[in-house]
Amino acid sequence: MKLTKKILFIFCFAISSAMIFSSFKNSKIEFVQPKGFPKPLYDLSKNPLTDAGFKLGRKLFYDPILSKDSSTSCNSCHLQYSGFTHIDHALSHGIHGLKGNRNSPVLVNLAWSKFFMLDGGVTNLELQPLGPITNPVEMDENMAHVVMKLNRSHYYRSHFGVVFGDSVVTGQHVLKALAQFLVMLESYNSKFDKVMRGEESFSAEEENGFRFFKKNCAACHINQTFTDGAFHNIGLTYDAELKDVGRMKITKDKRDSLKFKTPTLRNIAASYPYMHDGRFKTLEEVIDFYAEDKSKNEIVDKSLKRKIIFKNNDKKNLLTFLKTLTDKEFLYDLKFRDWVNE
Ligand code: HEC
Ligand code: HEC
Repeated sequence: MKLTKKILFIFCFAISSAMIFSSFKNSKIEFVQPKGFPKPLYDLSKNPLTDAGFKLGRKLFYDPILSKDSSTSCNSCHLQYSGFTHIDHALSHGIHGLKGNRNSPVLVNLAWSKFFMLDGGVTNLELQPLGPITNPVEMDENMAHVVMKLNRSHYYRSHFGVVFGDSVVTGQHVLKALAQFLVMLESYNSKFDKVMRGEESFSAEEENGFRFFKKNCAACHINQTFTDGAFHNIGLTYDAELKDVGRMKITKDKRDSLKFKTPTLRNIAASYPYMHDGRFKTLEEVIDFYAEDKSKNEIVDKSLKRKIIFKNNDKKNLLTFLKTLTDKEFLYDLKFRDWVNE
């Protein structure tokens, strides 16, 4: 009798576990190719997206276990409601309260990025997290130790097993899981998108702002991703304290001095402060900067050498247009939240 009960119990346990795992594995997460966007550069066929893989990446993104003293998670510097950046300070703060030397960028539409980091120092989304994990002023960890800690956790061992069929967690799969979460951070439902799809229309101010933008800004912030993915010197003064030379740090080519990657402008109203060092607190300050005469700057990008002329309501209109790039569905999307142990 006792033995039958035991067998019955084991049987029920196996069936219910299989049911939980199969519902967990069911793929509900889908990468969308938004209308008007170019083809993504990230090759999803090499890391097929699943619901379980996305959730595992999300769990890792929010877990401070990736840092040396369990104080800092990816989310510490990349908060959803600001477009996955931080907004209360210019330069990022990492482990032990240490200050980095750059403003954290938004994490939006990364599937379309060829280069990562503001100087393009990384060219593969799957390798990108190694930077912050090992950076002494960010998470100050090493991958071998992260993997050891994850292998001690029953939760991670079983979930990596479900997603990748691993019997132990591996560094490569930690990076693949994180990439599944990162690649899903797609923003394509701002007012701008809805207008482009014919679902809504611009106000007269927004329309005028858009016209001004297309004439003066879209050489680099090209739609629909609002970036050309290239590096430009837009004429910001060199900060002698931070000594950040931008792209030149990677290429060692003098011609790349003070060039930074064109950031996307999606969710720009939510992601202040601005520029690689967060020097501007408001969009008004950014617009005033673009209105300055840069013709005497020898190394500024040629498209900015000719002074941008702002007349009448141009500044106000441009600002109103930039605000149409805010995508509340993305900023408050529940699937990107921290769902403990799901
Ligand atoms: C201490 C703050 C901090 C932490 C923690 C942090 N980041 Fe970042 N992140 C930044 C900063 C600052 C940059 C820009 C770095 C640069 O250009 O040198 C960045 C850049 C990135 C980029 C490149 C974006 C682009 O468009 O080029 C990605 C992707 C990213 N981080 C993901 C992550 C992930 C995943 C984690 C967790 C493993 C993480 N970050 C942890 C501050 C942080
Ligand atoms: C020559 C290319 C180019 C042109 C033209 C250009 N930008 Fe930029 N923009 C950039 C680059 C590169 C950066 C990043 C600079 C940095 O971080 O140091 C940037 C940064 C910005 C930022 C801050 C983004 C952030 O997340 O910090 C805003 C806002 C912005 N540009 C708006 C505009 C507007 C509005 C115009 C037109 C008036 C314009 N840009 C024209 C290349 C350009």
